[in-house]
Amino acid sequence: MSAKPSVVVVLAAGEGTRMKSATPKVLHEVCGRSLVGHVVVNARSVGAEQIVVVVGHGRDKVEKHLAELDGELLTALQAEQRGTGHAVRMALQQLAERGITPSGGPVVVVAGDAPLLGSAALERLLTQHAATSAAVTVLSAVLSDATGYGRIVRADDDSVAAIVEHKDASEEVLAINEVNSGTYAFDPQFLVAAVDRLSTDNSQGEEYLTDLVAIARQDGLGVSAVAAPDPADIMGVNNRAQLAQVEQVMQSRINESWMLAGVTMRNPSATYIDVDVDLAADVVVEPGTYLKGATTIASGAVIGPDSTLIDTEVESGATVDRAHCLLAVIGADCEVGPFTRLRPGTELAVGAKAGSFVEIKNSHIGPGAKVPHLSYVGDADVGAGTNIGAATVVVNYDGVAKHRTVVGDQVRIGSDTMLVAPVEIGDGAYTAAGSVITEDVPPGSLAVARGRQRNVEGWVERNRPGSPAAEAATAKEEGKR
Ligand code: UD1
Ligand code: CA
Repeated sequence: MSAKPSVVVVLAAGEGTRMKSATPKVLHEVCGRSLVGHVVVNARSVGAEQIVVVVGHGRDKVEKHLAELDGELLTALQAEQRGTGHAVRMALQQLAERGITPSGGPVVVVAGDAPLLGSAALERLLTQHAATSAAVTVLSAVLSDATGYGRIVRADDDSVAAIVEHKDASEEVLAINEVNSGTYAFDPQFLVAAVDRLSTDNSQGEEYLTDLVAIARQDGLGVSAVAAPDPADIMGVNNRAQLAQVEQVMQSRINESWMLAGVTMRNPSATYIDVDVDLAADVVVEPGTYLKGATTIASGAVIGPDSTLIDTEVESGATVDRAHCLLAVIGADCEVGPFTRLRPGTELAVGAKAGSFVEIKNSHIGPGAKVPHLSYVGDADVGAGTNIGAATVVVNYDGVAKHRTVVGDQVRIGSDTMLVAPVEIGDGAYTAAGSVITEDVPPGSLAVARGRQRNVEGWVERNRPGSPAAEAATAKEEGKR
């Protein structure tokens, strides 16, 4: 049994110098969501009543992002970064100015750059905190390489005596491999009173939040520590290499959870799925596939290899092979690819086909209709069962405005037709190959709009005498005699 946190404080004021970026560190993304976005979602998942994000560096960008992310988030300003303890002090001070004093459930502090700390780790922290009635419970991890982390120093009775920062540690303490994750649960009354007692008497001249452990001990209060379920949970992002490592861990977790939910992945380490994607059981994802944004894939669909789907909806039984799809809807049993681009507003109805070297934009392709080869279809409505011949182009743009094209049901558009919009092709009509269609075609008509053919006999032998072409033509004629 664990109490829900009354307040979660997210520390996100640091500069993130080592990212070498114009973008504040916590706004960098992994698996389709910002670092701080993951941390906020994780905090919500354990039922936090209030979440306050401490902002400082790049605060305008961070605050704008947070407002878009979750309208109920509070922010607190830490104008100068004087340490993690100072950041929490600023948060509590600004909450108090708004009449909020944490009470009841614990106050949880998390770092804005540790997105892998999910609900399992937070629940474990909260459960341990409730079970021990400690003033402070620290989420720890045992690492083979503890470099840079604060070390958990345990007393003889195994209780937590102190956290010592790497930069302040003796040789003996540096040998400890149990580290502080930077995530804690605090008794609210203890925290509110104790943050005012932090000093800056340390190698970095900062108010260390970790010193609250020693303060609690001085007051004779309990301090406990519990290890995260997986040491990878505590990974933070300080540079781009760690950003990639964290993304790799998150991606393998996302992929594993989909596989356990019934998705086949031929090669999960070459499959990239954003956190907000939704997959049904019996979806197959082939390698080299990127599923991004709010993409959803229904049962029985086969996606990939080598496809990118962004904010795209794929219905059951469709196949998508080597395609790039953005804001498209692919109906049940459709066939897309290989080598197809579907741009925003493309809707393929049930059983439709978009084949090789085909680009479709802002168009509805009717049930069972086919655009099999080498075509561009833009701003068009194509009816049921219609076939668009190879190399057809919908000429939707006159240089000033885009116009719509309507192609009826069961139409046969001949190869290499130009449909110059706005134009309407009636149900069951045909167009002759190579036509440039500029006028509407009535239902059931054949439209021919091309130059008539003329053969000039003997032209090659007269004008290209002795050429291989002329010799071939002559040999053919002699053979006939
Ligand atoms: C901190 C812990 C350390 C722990 C490590 C885990 C302290 C003193 N040390 O060290 O024991 O092992 O996290 O990763 O807490 N931040 C602010 N304002 C500040 C300073 C930091 O908002 O004034 C934010 C940072 O943006 C970051 C988080 O707090 O999101 C942690 O700060 P960071 O400087 O990375 O802490 P560490 O020195 O790594
Ligand atoms: Ca630091």
